[in-house]
Amino acid sequence: MIRMINASFVGLLKPIGILLMVSFWMVSCAKEKVNYSQPPNCPDTVSFNAVILPMVQSNCTGCHGSGNGTGYTLTNYANISSHADAVLGSMRGSGYQLMPQGGPALPDSVIQKVACWIYQGKLNN
Ligand code: HEC
Repeated sequence: MIRMINASFVGLLKPIGILLMVSFWMVSCAKEKVNYSQPPNCPDTVSFNAVILPMVQSNCTGCHGSGNGTGYTLTNYANISSHADAVLGSMRGSGYQLMPQGGPALPDSVIQKVACWIYQGKLNN
C-alpha cells in the first residue's frame, strides 16, 4: 500500500519538476537569447569592423555614446558584442523598444547582417 502511494507521488512530482525547470528556463532566457529556431540566411561571414561598427556608429552611437542616459553605450566591439542581443532585438522591435528611437526601422538587409554576425559567433573581425 505504502509502496503504491510512493510510486504515484513520485510519478506526479517528475512532470511538475520538469515543467518548473522548463518555465524557469524560458523566463530567464526570454530577453537575453536570440531565438534561432529559423537560422538567418547568411551567405557571407559578416565583418564587425567593415559592417557592424560603421552601421552602429551612423545609426546608434549619436544617442548611445559614452555617458548617455539610455543605459546602453554602443561605441566599440566590447560594448556592442556584450549587448548584441539587445541591439538586434531593438532593431527588430522585438522584446525591446524599436531602435533607432522613433523609427523607422532600418532595412531588413541591415538587420539581417546583425543577425548573421551574432549567429556566426560575434567575431571581432
Ligand atoms: C535618437 C536617439 C537614439 C537613437 C538614434 C538610438 N537610440 Fe537606442 N535608445 C535611445 C533612448 C533615449 C533610449 C532609452 C529609452 C527609454 O529608456 O525609454 C534607448 C534605448 C535603447 C535600448 C534599450 C531598449 C529597451 O527596450 O530596453 C536599446 C537596446 C537601444 N536603445 C539600442 C539602439 C540601437 C541598436 C540603435 C541603432 C540601431 C539605437 N538604439 C539608436 C535613443 C536612441
